[in-house]
Amino acid sequence: MHLALSAPDTLPFLREELARALPSPMLEPQGDSVLMLKAPGSWDETRNAMGLTAFARQWLPQARVFPVPSIRVAAEALVTEWIGTLPDGAPWRLHIEPRLGVAEAGRHRCELIREAVVEQLRKRRRSLLKGLEAVPKTTSADPIGACPSIRGACPLFEAQESLVQLLLVSPEMAFLSVLVAPEPARSLGWISPFASGEVPVAVDKAAPSRAFAKLAESELRMGRSIAAGETCVDLGAAPGSWTYQPVQRGARVVAVDRSPLREDLMRNPGVTFHQGDAFRFVPETPVDWLLCDVIAAPERSIGLVLEWVRERRCRHFVVTVKFKGHADYAQLDVLKREMPRHVASFQLMHLCANKNEACVFGTVGDGAPKDAG
Ligand SMILES: C[S@@+](CC[C@H](N)C(=O)[O-])C[C@H]1O[C@@H](n2cnc3c(N)ncnc32)[C@H](O)[C@@H]1O
Repeated sequence: MHLALSAPDTLPFLREELARALPSPMLEPQGDSVLMLKAPGSWDETRNAMGLTAFARQWLPQARVFPVPSIRVAAEALVTEWIGTLPDGAPWRLHIEPRLGVAEAGRHRCELIREAVVEQLRKRRRSLLKGLEAVPKTTSADPIGACPSIRGACPLFEAQESLVQLLLVSPEMAFLSVLVAPEPARSLGWISPFASGEVPVAVDKAAPSRAFAKLAESELRMGRSIAAGETCVDLGAAPGSWTYQPVQRGARVVAVDRSPLREDLMRNPGVTFHQGDAFRFVPETPVDWLLCDVIAAPERSIGLVLEWVRERRCRHFVVTVKFKGHADYAQLDVLKREMPRHVASFQLMHLCANKNEACVFGTVGDGAPKDAG
């Protein structure tokens, strides 16, 4: 059994996504933001479908029920299980999160379980405790500033890191998923280093609008931020929250829109404003980053990003695909099919900062173009 975590209002879309991707999956919602998946096909096929879901923020692969009769008993059982399973001395992360019946009230119980686990490790296996302490901890309670740099706020998994997830769904019951290294590092985009896949981006009141949170969250999920000296094209840039972040960090931005950006950004020497149609703009030379948050029909934004990566006009990209009303999210399947042929890595995700939209972001790579045939 595998568990997916989504935002409450997008669980039905996750269900539809998996129903399209897998032959006869058993899909059982557990409350409003957890989906249980049992798939009869091969692990490779299932893994591939799970890896491409836009509406799952976190997966607990190969999860099983784990009773929590008391905090002490659960902590003892967990540590007994990990001795011999987790590589001694190697780094690992432990996400203990509440959902369903316990929700926020369960957070305190999760903290108590964590403390009891640490105590058990101290008594019984100090080398595992050392591995746990070797990884910087980021929780959804620690908001991360968007500017001037967000690098290192929550590092991606290293090849030697394992991940243990315990999802507390009632005071006495949890689901447990253990992913031994190097699986977490191989699962970029669907196994999140952030607990429950929730990325906390701090509010930046100096940005022209709240849209900055989408770019900041995409960078955090990529584990890569736009750096000083890099070049960006920002399509549909006004009023300028996406342009604002890279120029704050010393990058240069060609901002394309039909309307001007906020006045201070129009005067910023790091910004070159190009008034015109985002869909017709082609840079003279390839740039480091394509940023695109243009309001357009989904097929147009999908076509645009595919053209840019196929033509290798950028090294990295962050593009929003916007929908109207009750949308046909199956259009995102075009990206799932086409992107792997052109890019080194990509993620497709309904971000915490997204409304009725999703973002696709990733790295084209520096090598020769892949065979697109
Ligand atoms: C959601 S806003 C972008 C917000 C921006 N990312 C920010 O952070 O401030 C979308 C922008 O797309 C622009 N837009 C829509 N269609 C366009 C087109 N065909 N060419 C250029 N700009 C376009 C609109 O003028 C609008 O400013």
